[in-house]
Amino acid sequence: MDVARVRSDFPILERSFHGHPLVYLDSAATSQKPKAVLEAEEHFYAATNANVHRGVYALSVEATDAYEGARERVARFLHARDPSEIVFVRGTTEALNLVAQSLGESLLQRGDRVVTTVMEHHSNIVPWQMLRTSRGIGLDFVDIDDSGRLRLPDLDRFLEARPKIVTVTHASNVLGTVNPIREIADRAHAAGALVVVDAAQSAPHRPLDVQALGADFLAFSGHKTLGPMGIGVLWGRAELLEKMPPAAGGGEMIREVHQDRVAFREPPARFEAGTPNVAGAVALSAALDYLDRLGWDEIAAHERRLYEYARAEGERRLGSRWKVYGPEEPAERQGLQSFSLAGAHPHDVATLLDADGIAVRAGHHCCQPLMERLKVPALTRSSPYVYNDTSDLDRLFDGLERVAGVFA
Ligand SMILES: Cc1ncc(COP(=O)(O)O)c(C=O)c1O
Repeated sequence: MDVARVRSDFPILERSFHGHPLVYLDSAATSQKPKAVLEAEEHFYAATNANVHRGVYALSVEATDAYEGARERVARFLHARDPSEIVFVRGTTEALNLVAQSLGESLLQRGDRVVTTVMEHHSNIVPWQMLRTSRGIGLDFVDIDDSGRLRLPDLDRFLEARPKIVTVTHASNVLGTVNPIREIADRAHAAGALVVVDAAQSAPHRPLDVQALGADFLAFSGHKTLGPMGIGVLWGRAELLEKMPPAAGGGEMIREVHQDRVAFREPPARFEAGTPNVAGAVALSAALDYLDRLGWDEIAAHERRLYEYARAEGERRLGSRWKVYGPEEPAERQGLQSFSLAGAHPHDVATLLDADGIAVRAGHHCCQPLMERLKVPALTRSSPYVYNDTSDLDRLFDGLERVAGVFA
């Protein structure tokens, strides 16, 4: 990958902080945006802006076509059978809440069980905990082994209780672990459960094929995938979405409303109450085009190179003071690295790195149950992406060596 050329597409990377050029290593929290995406959003507002699905005038028809074109683009990205399986939402959090709320109402009875995992982001735990409170469901957590892989025998044990739903992240935002979704889905389906996949961390890094994954629902966020904030996707199998009630009511999602009754439209409209984020959808479509142009094999090879470089540099420069969490084998994980540095609190590490212009994240990463499982209060995370190169990692490890010196 020609990283210098890629970098030139990202205006924000020209900024400096505290007298140092920005090294942005927090892409798992949100990615930066290339000019193609910024221009797509600006062009929508400058040339195409009108509300969608409402007007008979040409501009509104154009806006509607742009919005529905984005839906088709996302359907192609996910290998969905039909664009009507794509529901635009604000992001992964809203998508998972929508699934939980709608299935909570239509599928789950008191005493039913849902299986999740200890490595989930809060957005794939809290909506189910809310159902535990409101509907009396039971929630089981699949544990991890010492390398940060899911313990599949746990899953098999929980499946014996015939849960209605298994909900799991494709890739962990802390451990980097890439979970064997197909295997999990096959086991879950054999036990009669539906499978929900949180693809927030995988969508930016690998091409997704919902048919091959064997999922029933899948969620991702535009803003981690070079797209804008405030747009995300819920994909669901048509035959399931058709039977599900909406999670929010209002304009656009109804067929007719009377004082005594209401009838809802077919999916995806049923799940998109109110004016949607049309510019966001259009810009997300531009982001997916940009990633396609970079090439998914190139992206994977680049990230693997960065991961292996970071692993080797960390060990060479920091030795046993540096501990990375999650599986070591590149084939089993993504490129992000969450680590501890002996004697230094993660917040101090991130603050000292910031003084060198290096942006990394420290904290519980919205994974408090995982932090408890790992018995750490917090971790520091470096998450590179397509615009990072080994020179960024050199700056990171220069900084980490200085931090280690301070706390020695
Ligand atoms: C694995 C995972 N799931 C869900 C989310 C939530 O995404 P969003 O905040 O875009 O809704 C994140 C964000 O960090 C994540 O990493």
